Order: sequence, then C-alpha cells, then structure tokens
Amino acid sequence: MERIIIDTDPGVDDAMAILLAVKAADRLKIEALTTVDGNVGIRQVTDNALSVLELCGADHIPVYRGADHPLGKDVAYSDDFHGSDGLGGVNIRPERLKTMEEPAVDYLVRAAAEHPGELTLVLLGPMTNAALAVRKDPGFAKNIRRLVVMGGAEHGGNMSPVAEFNFFHDPQAASEVFQAGFKEIVMVGLDATGKVYMTPAMRELLYLIGTPISRFIHKITRRYTDRRWEINRVMGCQLCDPLVAGYLIDPGILTLEDAHVEIETQGRCEGMSVVYRTKRYPELQANCKIAVDTDSRRFFDVFYLTQFPEYRT
Ligand code: BDR
Ligand code: CA
Repeated sequence: MERIIIDTDPGVDDAMAILLAVKAADRLKIEALTTVDGNVGIRQVTDNALSVLELCGADHIPVYRGADHPLGKDVAYSDDFHGSDGLGGVNIRPERLKTMEEPAVDYLVRAAAEHPGELTLVLLGPMTNAALAVRKDPGFAKNIRRLVVMGGAEHGGNMSPVAEFNFFHDPQAASEVFQAGFKEIVMVGLDATGKVYMTPAMRELLYLIGTPISRFIHKITRRYTDRRWEINRVMGCQLCDPLVAGYLIDPGILTLEDAHVEIETQGRCEGMSVVYRTKRYPELQANCKIAVDTDSRRFFDVFYLTQFPEYRT
C-alpha cells in the first residue's frame, strides 16, 4: 500500500484524480491533500478540494492550505479551461469540512520528518509547496520516498510552444525541486498525458452510469472539453492529473525512462523542461524518470472500473 500526499490545485482534472485515488483505497492510502495556487486562486482551489472530498465521503482526509502565489512571478491562472470556480462552473461549496490550521508547507516538512522514506508526494499542480518545503528543511527531499509529478513535457507545451502549465506557473519552484536531490522523481508530462483523451462518447457514458460521482465528472468536464475544441480543435478531454492517479494504482500504465531534466526559469522559454534521456547522454546524471509511453486502454480500464465496478460489461 503506497502512502501518498496529494498536492493539488483543483481544477477539473485534479478533482477527477482525487476521486479516482480515493476509490483505490486498496492500493493507495491518502494521508492528506495540500493545496496550491494554480488553475485558480488558493481560496477557490482549497474550497474545491474540500468539496470533492465531501462529495465522495472522504471526510477523514485532512486538507492543508498551501502557497497563494508562485515564487517570484505573477500568477497566470487557467480559468479559461477550468472556469472561474475551477470546476467548470458547477459552483459547489464545502458544507461540512474545513482546512487544518497548520500551513501545508509546515505539514509537509513535519510529516516527511516523522515518517522518513515512507511518504510519496504526488504533485498535480505547480511545485511551489514542494520547493518551499525544500527551502524550509534541507532534509525534506531525503525524507520523501518519491515524487510523482504531473508536469512538463519532452516535446511541446500547452502554455507556450515549449512550456506546460504546472511548470510555467512556477518555473523557479520546478527548477529547485528538480535540483533538490529527491531519491526518485517520476515526471508524467504532456507526451504521456496526450494519449489519454476521454472522447465525447466516453464522457457520455459517465452520464449514463448515473451515479452522483459519474454525473459530477460529466458536468465538470463540459467546459474543459468545449474549450479544447474551440481553441485547439482537439476533440475530447485530456486527463492529465488522472493519469498520475492511474499510474499509482497500476504502474504498468506508463513506460518510464531515465532522464536528466532541467527547467528554464526565465525568458521566452520559461517553464520549459529540457529533457536529456541519459541513454543518449550518458555523461549526464539522471535526476528523474520520465513517462515516454502510455497504455491508454489500460488506463481507461482503471479509470472506469475502479470507480464504477458495477458497470463492467
Ligand atoms: C496541468 O495543468 C493544469 O491545468 C491541469 O490541472 C494539469 O495539472 C496540465 O498541463
Ligand atoms: Ca492540476
């Protein structure tokens, strides 16, 4: 059983990743959620994290509020895709749950120190909290079992020709995290997530399944899907953060390869992840494993059957 902390900025696909991870309780023990300014502002993403946990009855999972601003950069939200409420305009609010008093960065440092080598930190948003934890405690990176990151890309970006949103939002944080000496970093970038588009037909299946959670996912993905079509002429809904949850449940979904990754922090290429596969550049030391291929069929089996097992055909 992998013990995970999910650092997240919900966010339509973050919400889907959380719902999937909660349902995989036989594989994953979610210790906590920590929130970070990203798709929309920190107050909204934190409310969304609480609402999503309420929706799936996971009231036992504590939520810690994190950074409200990237390190040394102005914010650039993704509300065009995620809606101003971050969840595609459904406008839900938490009714029962509240955040913990302790700030997220303090919690991360404390939990890692109390359980050295046991906790996996899953980063589904900008890396601000993780970078602040590294700054606060030089032993933090060594205390974490591994980082599993949605972010970056080997080829091409979604915020600029070269930068992916999570790295673009806080390039300085991403750069510091990649240099911090974590024992293992798994980077799931756009090259891998570009293979998991939920087609319109698959999305309609969620409506037909008809549970509160499947209907919720159907609703929050509407704007996200429509905007992708309007802006990029790509049909379907890219499941970036859920792919990370899927990989944690079934590691065979991704093929990984050793790489040395550096993040550009300034200029026109800010947020770009420069990926050197070390089998091609053996003189460089690998600092992470990047996802180079995705078994999308296997991912969608996990996505649907973990959450809605009664609909197995
Ligand atoms: C990432 O950016 C965000 O908008 C998504 O939630 C995901 O984490 C994809 O680039
Ligand atoms: Ca996210």
